Amino acid sequence: MKKIYLYGNWKMNMTVAETKKFFDGFESAYAPYKNDAGLEVGVFAPFTSLWALADCAKKAGIVFGAENVYSEASGAFTGEVSIPMLQEIGIKYVILGHSERRHIFNEPDEMIAKKVKAVLNANMIPVLCYGETLDERESGHTFDVMGRQLSTAIDGLNPDDVKKIIYAYEPVWAIGTGKSASSEQAQEVCGWSRNLLGIKDVVILYGGSVKASNAKELLSMQDIDGALVGGAALKPESFLDIYKAFKA
Ligand code: 13P
Repeated sequence: MKKIYLYGNWKMNMTVAETKKFFDGFESAYAPYKNDAGLEVGVFAPFTSLWALADCAKKAGIVFGAENVYSEASGAFTGEVSIPMLQEIGIKYVILGHSERRHIFNEPDEMIAKKVKAVLNANMIPVLCYGETLDERESGHTFDVMGRQLSTAIDGLNPDDVKKIIYAYEPVWAIGTGKSASSEQAQEVCGWSRNLLGIKDVVILYGGSVKASNAKELLSMQDIDGALVGGAALKPESFLDIYKAFKA
């Protein structure tokens, strides 16, 4: 049985108090799976909650990370957070290129590529998101768009570094809409991505309205190694129910 990565992206949710409360309930929800080598759970929180997340997640024995970072180590970049700042509080994983960064904050492919390189150079692990909008899918440009996003992000990296990245295919039209990609659509893109990356055992997640009711279908697909979960990751039960449904 393949290992499943169940990662939660809290987005701009969860204060320090809410983070602590989440972990009050997490322990019992996670207890049945804690020693399950077939599951890796991770949580990604906003910067202000990272200190609390690091503390709670270490105790719970799960992966934890940030939702973004800037590529420069220090300097005149008002409002940004650097890699050394994250490292100081024990952060090893960082989501990069989420569609909300790409589309709401206009982060271009080249900026995301710089971030990917900086994070890898710091011996940290990028969780690189990519995916097409509805317009791009409907006009037949899904694979051009994703080819550009992925190729720019890995340009100039050696195969070892390409393999260290965790990839997350997130079709923009499926994020927060309740409308997941079908398991066939998600499989098609994840399989295509694995070929493009040219490395058989890279980790590729699917994200976009993943919940217990569609988990089994999606996570059973050959090229889908796990899920990057938004809404359903805000409560320990709905989050872990995704794995429970996969196992059932
Ligand atoms: P939802 O699960 O809320 O659709 O969000 C997915 C996502 O964007 C995870 O990064």
